[in-house]
Amino acid sequence: MPTSMRSVTLFTDEYLQNSHEVLALLRAEGPVHRARTANGLHVWVVTRYDDAVAALTDERLLKNPEGLTAAIRDNLDDPDRGLTFSGDIAHHLLNSDGAEHARVRGVLAGAFTGERIERMRPRITAIADELLDAMAGKRRVDLVDEYALLLPGSVLCELLGVPHQDRDRFRTWSNIILAATDPDAIRDASIALAAFLVQLIRGKQVAPGEDLISELVGAGGLTEAELISIAFLLLVVGHETSGNLIANGVLSLLRDPGQLAALRADPSLLPKAVEELLRFESPVAMTTLRYAGEPVVIGGVDIPRGEIVIVALNSANRDSARFPDADRLDLTRDADGHLAFGHGVHRCLGAALARLTGVVAIGRLLDRFPGLRLDARDGEIRWRRSTFMHGLHALPVAPG
Ligand code: HEM
Repeated sequence: MPTSMRSVTLFTDEYLQNSHEVLALLRAEGPVHRARTANGLHVWVVTRYDDAVAALTDERLLKNPEGLTAAIRDNLDDPDRGLTFSGDIAHHLLNSDGAEHARVRGVLAGAFTGERIERMRPRITAIADELLDAMAGKRRVDLVDEYALLLPGSVLCELLGVPHQDRDRFRTWSNIILAATDPDAIRDASIALAAFLVQLIRGKQVAPGEDLISELVGAGGLTEAELISIAFLLLVVGHETSGNLIANGVLSLLRDPGQLAALRADPSLLPKAVEELLRFESPVAMTTLRYAGEPVVIGGVDIPRGEIVIVALNSANRDSARFPDADRLDLTRDADGHLAFGHGVHRCLGAALARLTGVVAIGRLLDRFPGLRLDARDGEIRWRRSTFMHGLHALPVAPG
C-alpha cells in the first residue's frame, strides 16, 4: 500500500503555520496519507490534484449525518469527544447525499441565480466603500477585522434579509462554530443561531421582502427545518470563506510587489487575478469530512469502509503536475480548474457571489489606497486555528 509512514497531525498550530510546506512533502511522498487531527480523529488525506477530483466525484464517499456521526465515533481516539450539532441544522446540503441532496440543492440553485447576484453589485460596492471610508486617514488597520470579514458578513445579511442590529451576533456565532474547538460552545452557538433563524423565517412568511429567504419561502417545496438549515449553512459557509479570499488575496499581493504592480497597471486583470489568488492561498483548506460507504481505492490506496476521507484543496491547488510552478503567484496564468470551490455534486453554490465579492473588495481597496502596504511586525502574520479554513488572524496594513 503506497501510503507514507510519516506520522502527520493535522490542524495543530505548527501544521497551520506551515501547511504548504507539510502538504508539499506529503504530496511528494504519496497520493493519500493516514493522518490524525489535533482533536484525535483518524482520517485519510488526499493531496494530489487528479486524486482530489476522483475523490470528489466518487459516489461511495458519503456525507449524511447518521453515517458520518458513526464514522467519526469509530475513528476517534476518544469517542466521547464527537462533534455535536443541533439536530435540524445538521441536516443541510453539505451533510446529505443522493436524491435528498439533489432536491434541496435544486431549489436553492433556482433562487441563487446569476441575475440575483449581479443585482447585488451596487450594494456590495457601496458597503465596500463605506468600510474603506472608515479606514481612510488611519495610520494602521487590521484588514481582516475592519474590512475582509465585515464586507461578506454584511453582503450575506443583505442576501438573506437579516436586520442590521443582529449582524454582530451572527459574526460571533459563526466564528465559534467554524473554529470547531470547543464542543459546548459550538452547541450553544448553533442552538442560538437556529432559534434566531426560526424567527427570521417566520417573519418572512408573514412579511416577505426582496431577499433570498423570502424567495425560498415563497417557492415552496422546503420544510421549515430545511429552510433553517439552508440559512444556517449560507451564513456560516459564506462569511469566513469570502473573508479569507479577500485577506489572503491581499496578503499574497502585498508580498509580491511585481504582481501587485502588474494588477495596478492593468485592472482588467482583476477577475483572472482573483482565480489565481483563490488557487494560491485557497480560503477553504480542506473539504468537509466524507466517509467511505463502501471500500474505495484512491490513488492506488485502499480505504476501508467506514473510514474518513478529507481532500486537501490547498494541496491539490499547489500540485505542479496540474499547475506548473504552482508555488509561484502568477496573475496571468490560467488558473481555471482550481479546486478552491470544491468539485462534484457538493461544489460551492456561492462561487459566483464569492467571486463578485472578491473582485469588488480587492478592486475598490487598491483603487482607494494606491500606497497600501503591509505593516506587520515579526510573527504577526499567523494563520488562524481552524479545521477547514485557511485564514489569517490579522492583516496589519498601512492604507497610505
Ligand atoms: C471564496 C469564498 C468561498 C469558498 C472558497 C467556498 C468553498 C466551498 C467549498 C470548497 C465547498 C465544498 C465543500 C465540500 O465539498 O466539502 C463549498 C460548498 C458550498 N458553498 Fe461555498 N465557498 C465560498 C463562498 C460561499 C458563499 C458566499 C456561499 C453562499 C452565500 C457559499 C455556499 C456554499 C454552499 C451552499 C455549499 C454546499 C453545496 C452542496 O453541498 O451542494 N459558499 N464552498
